[in-house]
Amino acid sequence: MTLTAPTLTATAYRLQGVTRIYRQRDRTVQALAGVDLEIAAGDFVTIQGPTGGGKSTLLQMLGALDRPSTGTVMLGELDIARAGNRELGRVRAEQIGFVFQGFNLIPTLTAAENVDMGLEPLGLDRDERARRVTESLARVGLADRADHRPGELSGGQQQRVAIARAVAKRPRVLLADEPTGNLDERMRDEILDVLETLNAEGLTLVVVTHDSAVARRAHRRLRLAKGVVADITHA
Ligand SMILES: Nc1ncnc2c1ncn2[C@@H]1O[C@H](COP(=O)(O)OP(=O)(O)OP(=O)(O)O)[C@@H](O)[C@H]1O
Ligand SMILES: [Mg+2]
Repeated sequence: MTLTAPTLTATAYRLQGVTRIYRQRDRTVQALAGVDLEIAAGDFVTIQGPTGGGKSTLLQMLGALDRPSTGTVMLGELDIARAGNRELGRVRAEQIGFVFQGFNLIPTLTAAENVDMGLEPLGLDRDERARRVTESLARVGLADRADHRPGELSGGQQQRVAIARAVAKRPRVLLADEPTGNLDERMRDEILDVLETLNAEGLTLVVVTHDSAVARRAHRRLRLAKGVVADITHA
């Protein structure tokens, strides 16, 4: 008798036939033109490609910020295309961490207060919130900067605060759109080290980037052009 080991790889996302058509008066743009894609839990995936290729549109789909025109976007067991607005809001709050090029920190709040803001929708008690703020600032190497405001931090440090804010909710996935786009090389490497560490701890990462130095760190590299995805990991 042969015993076959069960497949242990869980799927974070499964997309089938995903299209997204933007309509503006007489003009239509097909930003996604039939995307089939699986992303394994724990993977580190980058998405490259020309401007206007559909990268941010795809990331918005993965982030439950938008629904496809046709097709299905499964996040675990949830179909983002068919879920209601309240459910999508809850999924975004609890399961998805976002990081953007522009950091999006509130300038009048300290690093700790900025991280704490991301926890607001979760309804945690004060002690648990404080614990998570301390823990996530430590994870990005900023334990000693909790009381600094964004203006008192370098670009790389500001982006690390934004990452801490995203991971404090203990999301299932971290989605980043050009997270190193505003940073010089040294700060970029600083952010890549943080992302790599989080990924090694099990966090699924999907990173949109123009920077091939970022893509080189990924386990899987995708290219999105004219709304169509190609796997270029071995290209
Ligand atoms: N809200 C919108 N309304 C209308 N068209 C849009 C909208 N958002 C994006 N598009 C169009 O959809 C296409 C894909 O845009 P998207 O922002 O996904 O590209 P991208 O790959 O992220 O580009 P970039 O590298 O410049 O960020 C583009 O042609 C864009 O003009
Ligand atoms: Mg974009």
